[in-house]
Amino acid sequence: MKSEDTIRIGKGRLIGSALVFAACYLVFILFVFLMIVINSPTKWQNYFAENFPKFLSLCICVLLLFYIVYYYYYFEDKAFLVDLRNVCLVFALFILCVLLCYIFGRFVSVFARPTAMLALLCLFLFNRRQAILLNFVFSLLLFVIDTYTENFAAGGAYTTVPEVGAQNAEVYFSLMLGFVCGTFAVLTAGSVKTRGGMLLLGTFVSIPTVIIILLLELPAINVQNNWIAYVASAGYGILGCFLSSALAMCFLPLFEFVFNRLTVFRLRELTSANVPLIKRLRTEAPGTFNHSLIVAQLAETSAIAIGENAELARAAAYYHDVGKLKQPDCFTENQTDYNVHDELTPELSADIIRSHAKDGYDLLTAARLPEEIADVAREHHGTLPIKYFYDKAMRLSGGDANIRDYSYLGPTPHTKIAAIIMIADASEAAARALKDRSPENVERVVRSIIEERMDLDQFATCDITMRDLTIIKQTIVDALSGVHHHRVKYPSIRFNRERQAVVDTSGDENE
Ligand SMILES: [Fe+2]
Ligand SMILES: [Fe+2]
Repeated sequence: MKSEDTIRIGKGRLIGSALVFAACYLVFILFVFLMIVINSPTKWQNYFAENFPKFLSLCICVLLLFYIVYYYYYFEDKAFLVDLRNVCLVFALFILCVLLCYIFGRFVSVFARPTAMLALLCLFLFNRRQAILLNFVFSLLLFVIDTYTENFAAGGAYTTVPEVGAQNAEVYFSLMLGFVCGTFAVLTAGSVKTRGGMLLLGTFVSIPTVIIILLLELPAINVQNNWIAYVASAGYGILGCFLSSALAMCFLPLFEFVFNRLTVFRLRELTSANVPLIKRLRTEAPGTFNHSLIVAQLAETSAIAIGENAELARAAAYYHDVGKLKQPDCFTENQTDYNVHDELTPELSADIIRSHAKDGYDLLTAARLPEEIADVAREHHGTLPIKYFYDKAMRLSGGDANIRDYSYLGPTPHTKIAAIIMIADASEAAARALKDRSPENVERVVRSIIEERMDLDQFATCDITMRDLTIIKQTIVDALSGVHHHRVKYPSIRFNRERQAVVDTSGDENE
């Protein structure tokens, strides 16, 4: 996500998002109305005739809850709010999860409702903080719907409770169940990085579920000693937890695709060797591919060091130079003996070189890769000058060359990840050209790369700090010293079949 300070958010866009919020609210109310009609096709007219004030209360409560969501984003993340796809995604998640809770509550058991599903989807599609807030709002939404619509969302389960007052108790416990399970799922799923781990998560979320159901059933167990009913309820509760993680896994790829969202799973898939663009890079531009692998390693460790998304850094580094696929032979790392630039004017050469940033962006957006990755491809050289061809032009023209014609078109990095890749990219290339790759020499080169970019205001549009830059510099120096380390010189001896050492005459055997 781009830093909010770096994006100009006008009032018009905020009003637009408020209108979309209002439209989504009306769609949600229409959805609830339809659910009431479908739930009791013969009696729904009576329901509205007798309970219109209740329905009105429901509409007001839902409005207040969505108002809270709007204001949360207004103060916390305006950039998220003004992207209308995000607003539609949030409402699509609410509607889907209410619908699934209705289906399982109605046809299986109220305890089998996948109440933690929304929290898990929000965790992977957005982030932990948003997941906790949206899960809280979702629990209250279910509570409000249960309370004001004859519990249709719970499949009418509470109305079967005979004791007066027990219905309310169960509604409140259901609220507790939704809130605690969802929050517990968010807090435990933070380290889940595989789809198998997601299913295992159901086991952890079952623990608070079973405890809450025990508390709910305790009065009935005391009076009737009805342990079988408790075991059945607990079983349904555990089923609901597994349903939450399984359904979240099923629907996640759909939301990833439709709303072009990044998740840890999608990022991992994007860096697999089977992705068409990676395959092309490996076969058509092997030099660039190898360079990208090392940049990915540097970017990943740097991102971990400053607390950024390591998977995103790795994936973005894999694709940062994908624009070179347009003319791979024009880039040094893919050339052998023949250099096409020897036959071109420096102006044309610079034009080819600088266009790889924009070409990469176009290629990635055409392939429907996430915007965050495409942005890094466009921003990883910022507005830096292409020194080699500028210098060549100055020499050929006798000092009459405009630096603008020999600079990348930008924009400069908008995120810390893009800044990391800008530094890692230049450091990898510079270290490769070094003859003396001692840690001190590598440190000197990386420091000068960072200082030059600071002097040229390349970090002015992202919120990277001096502390981050210091950590990134040290991480890259350590990693590059490891990548380009010197091997000890092996002695020039070989062993014959009798395992006797003989002098090797085949030359240097450093491997
Ligand atoms: Fe590049
Ligand atoms: Fe690069």
